[in-house]
Amino acid sequence: MSKPKLIRAFSEDSLESPPVWLMRQAGRYLPEYRALKEKHTFLELCKSAELATEVTLQPLRRFNLDAAIVFADILLPAEAIGFSVDFNPGPKIANPIKDPSDLQRLHQSSFNPAADPTCKTISALRKHFDADSAMADKAVIGFCGSPWTLACYLTDQGPFKHFAATQIFAAKQSKAFVAFIDLLEQCLGDFLLAQIAAGADAVQIFDSWGGLLAAEDYRRFSLPSIQRIVERIKPTGCPVIVYCGGTAHLLNEMKETEADGISLDWKTELSVAEEILGSSMLIQGNLDPAHLFLPQEQLEIEAKLMSQQLKRRNRYIANLGHGILQQTPIESVETFIHAVKSGWQQ
Ligand code: CP3
Repeated sequence: MSKPKLIRAFSEDSLESPPVWLMRQAGRYLPEYRALKEKHTFLELCKSAELATEVTLQPLRRFNLDAAIVFADILLPAEAIGFSVDFNPGPKIANPIKDPSDLQRLHQSSFNPAADPTCKTISALRKHFDADSAMADKAVIGFCGSPWTLACYLTDQGPFKHFAATQIFAAKQSKAFVAFIDLLEQCLGDFLLAQIAAGADAVQIFDSWGGLLAAEDYRRFSLPSIQRIVERIKPTGCPVIVYCGGTAHLLNEMKETEADGISLDWKTELSVAEEILGSSMLIQGNLDPAHLFLPQEQLEIEAKLMSQQLKRRNRYIANLGHGILQQTPIESVETFIHAVKSGWQQ
C-alpha cells in the first residue's frame, strides 16, 4: 500500500498540493462533538477507544483533511507517572509539583500499545483507514507534549499564560527541575514509541510553551529532551514534527531538534523560517487561528498566499499556527482547506 499523502510530503520532490490538517481539529467548534460532550466528560471521551475514535473521525467526515490526530490530551501520560489529572475545561492537577521533595512520589512508567487507550484508538483508526479505500490516503498522527510544556502544567496551577511558578522553580532549583524534565522525557519517549507501535504514521511533539524561554534557557530546559526523544524515534522511520508556540526567536534551536518537520505559529514568516531551517526540514503551519474569522474572500486569499511564501513545492503541510478556536465558523474551515489545496496551482 502506498504511503499516505502527508507522509509522502516528507520525502517526495513535489506534490500537486500540500497536505492539510488542523491542530485541535476535533473539538468544541463542531456541533457533533458538543453533542457527545452532553453525555460524556472529556476524560471519558479520551479514555474510551471507541468514543475517542468516533471523535477523531468527526472532522474527517466533514472536511477534506489529510490526517486524523488521535483524540487525547498532552496531560494524559502524566497519570502514568503519578499525577492526578482532570479538566475543567483546561487541565486541573490535584497534586502539582511545588517543591523538589514532591518529585520523590513520582515513578517511572511504561505503556503497553495493546492496553493504553490512546494507543488503542490509534490502532482502531489505522484499521478503519486500511479497510476503506476512500480513506487509504489518510495519515494517523500520534502526539505528546514536550517535557518542558508538560512541566509547565505540572508545576504551575495557572492562569496558564506566563507560568511564573515554573520559571521560578527552574531558576531556583534548576537541578531538581532538570531531573523532573528527564523523568518526563523518558515517559514521553516511551509513550510515542508505543503510539508508533500501535500504528501512528507520524507523531507531533507539542512544545506549546517553549516560546516563553529565551534561547539560552531553551537550550537548558527544552531542547535537549526534545533532541533525545527525536533520536529515540529515528530508528522507527516514523516522521516527527515539533510544534513550538512563539518560536520566532528560536528557529536555530528548532533546526537543532533534528526533527523531520517544524510546525510554526503565525508570528513566524514562513519564508524567514525556510531560510533558517533549510530545504530538508518539512515546514508546517501557520495561519493565525483568529483569521478563520475574516470574511471568506479575504481568508481565501490569505490561505493561498501562505503556501506561496515558500520556495518549495514539497516538504510542507498546511495547518494553523495554533489550535482552532471554539467559535470558528464551519464554513471558514472549508474555505481554508479548499484554498490551501489550490494554492500551488497558479
Ligand atoms: O483534535 C486534536 O487536535 C486532538 C486533540 C487534542 C486535545 N488537546 C483535545 C482537547 C490535542 C492534540 C491536545 C493537545 C494539547 N492539550 C496541548 C498542545 C496543543 C496546544 O493547544 O498548544 C495543550 C497545551 C493541551 C492542554 C489543554 N487541554 C488545555 C490548555 C485545554 C483547555 C483548552 C480549552 O480550549 O479550553 C485542554 C482541554 C482540551 N484538550 C479540550 C480538547 C478538545 C477541551 C475539553 C472539552 O471539550 O471540554
